Amino acid sequence: MKLEPLLLEISEYCRQVGLAESTFGRAAINDGKLVSRLRNGGRITTETLDRIRGYMAANPAGEGRRLIVQRRTPSPRHQDAALGPTAEQQSSTRNQALASLAAQELSPSPAEQQITRVTNEPSVDARQNFRFYDNRQKYLLFVNTCSEKWEIANRVSLELANLHPRPPALRVFDAGVGDGSVLARVMRSMHDRFPTMPFFIAGKEISLEDVRLTLQKVADRFFEHPGTVLVLTNMAYADAPRLSVRSLKAASSLVWHEVALRGNTSHSFEEQITALEPFLTANWKATVNPQTGGSLYERPVVLVLYREDHRFLLDPIIPRLGATAANYDLVIASQPYRARASTEFKARRVIAPLVRALGPGGRLIGIHSYGHDPAMEIVHKVWPNDEPFITNRHDLLKAVKTELGAAGRDLNFNANSDARSLFRYDMHTLPSEVEGSIGTSTLFAAWNAAIYVAQVEDERLAPVVARGDYLDATRQVLQEHGGLWFYDESFVISRRRD
Ligand SMILES: C[S@@+](CC[C@H](N)C(=O)[O-])C[C@H]1O[C@@H](n2cnc3c(N)ncnc32)[C@H](O)[C@@H]1O
Repeated sequence: MKLEPLLLEISEYCRQVGLAESTFGRAAINDGKLVSRLRNGGRITTETLDRIRGYMAANPAGEGRRLIVQRRTPSPRHQDAALGPTAEQQSSTRNQALASLAAQELSPSPAEQQITRVTNEPSVDARQNFRFYDNRQKYLLFVNTCSEKWEIANRVSLELANLHPRPPALRVFDAGVGDGSVLARVMRSMHDRFPTMPFFIAGKEISLEDVRLTLQKVADRFFEHPGTVLVLTNMAYADAPRLSVRSLKAASSLVWHEVALRGNTSHSFEEQITALEPFLTANWKATVNPQTGGSLYERPVVLVLYREDHRFLLDPIIPRLGATAANYDLVIASQPYRARASTEFKARRVIAPLVRALGPGGRLIGIHSYGHDPAMEIVHKVWPNDEPFITNRHDLLKAVKTELGAAGRDLNFNANSDARSLFRYDMHTLPSEVEGSIGTSTLFAAWNAAIYVAQVEDERLAPVVARGDYLDATRQVLQEHGGLWFYDESFVISRRRD
């Protein structure tokens, strides 16, 4: 039988009920690895299928209902003897051997059983999802109404002139692909400058929605630049450049999926990329770290895309599990952290690990918001003392230098002058839109962009939006300046060539 519909059904059920898939497996058939085995190609008997369906029917996912795992007590382990990967599925997933080995080592002590109960409390997941989608709306409106991502791509593309790639490929790492606007534009620019050089491009992105948006933008890249290997992963900063996780526990659930795109048209590539949808839905899952509020993947995933008809040429750069070197020519760190995070956090947890991933002659370009612009005037009219941009590039570079210590000896830290570092981007408006009476949709777009860039928390927004005068503040600033614009600042950290 086809397992994808069942896997989708299970993952949707787990999402609605607020259960981890491992818990679901244990609850339904006393096998915490059920879902991961199915996902990795395991088969299933009709008897087990009946038990799974029976469990879901007996515990329907109703409104506001979720199952809470209260207690776990040891019980004999059950495993479906028929579960095991087919040969075809084995060949498409390179990590099988390692994953199953690690899974055996790490199997929870004799299987567990949980007592479940139904409650009407909204789950933590549900509350966090609400925040997540709320922010998504702001991000997507911002990306589509302002020119920031174009300007960032232009700034990043200037760095291409300073690269000295060595065979077998030009290697780029995007430390947070977002909706893929920056990466797709940079890839076009890379082709323009290096039309015949093979590209190895790895991007980190934990959000499923962003991975979808990015993949929608890349089909034509394989047409125009056939020598492209594009890798997307949800791994953390410290692991993503090497495409391998240090934690054995995470390694045991790692999914490595290689897709050799057939055909030679953008349309056929797009069709095959779109067909990855169920794979992404099933695997690219994130939860929220209860301690930090940051995102956590459920399992590490690596998706590798290249053209099948160029496999021979690309063989030296198609990544192999556990064998990816972090020696990038270019690392893009565009808006990679929350503005209000401490300078030390930004240096230690984000920039320093990325700098370590630079190869000889490699360059990291960092970009974050600068403020001192009409958008901040809107924010200050509502919250006069708000200062979101607490870290400037000079302080950040100092902190990264300190963090790297002796390992920073062969690096140059280029803060550059304001004239070189700062760049402006605008909200797109029609000339008529900001003259006379400004339309409500323009006001909303401007307000959204201002509070999005200033990363104003939802809790602070609610009372202001209820009062309604924020639109007057926005209108005044738009009228005074005849539009809305913002400043970002950039910096470069480069490794010496020898
Ligand atoms: C990994 S980051 C950046 C992704 C991508 N590199 C980009 O520049 O769009 C993704 C998150 O950064 C935040 N972000 C992106 N652009 C921003 C901006 N101009 N101002 C504030 N936050 C931003 C959003 O929360 C977004 O979900």
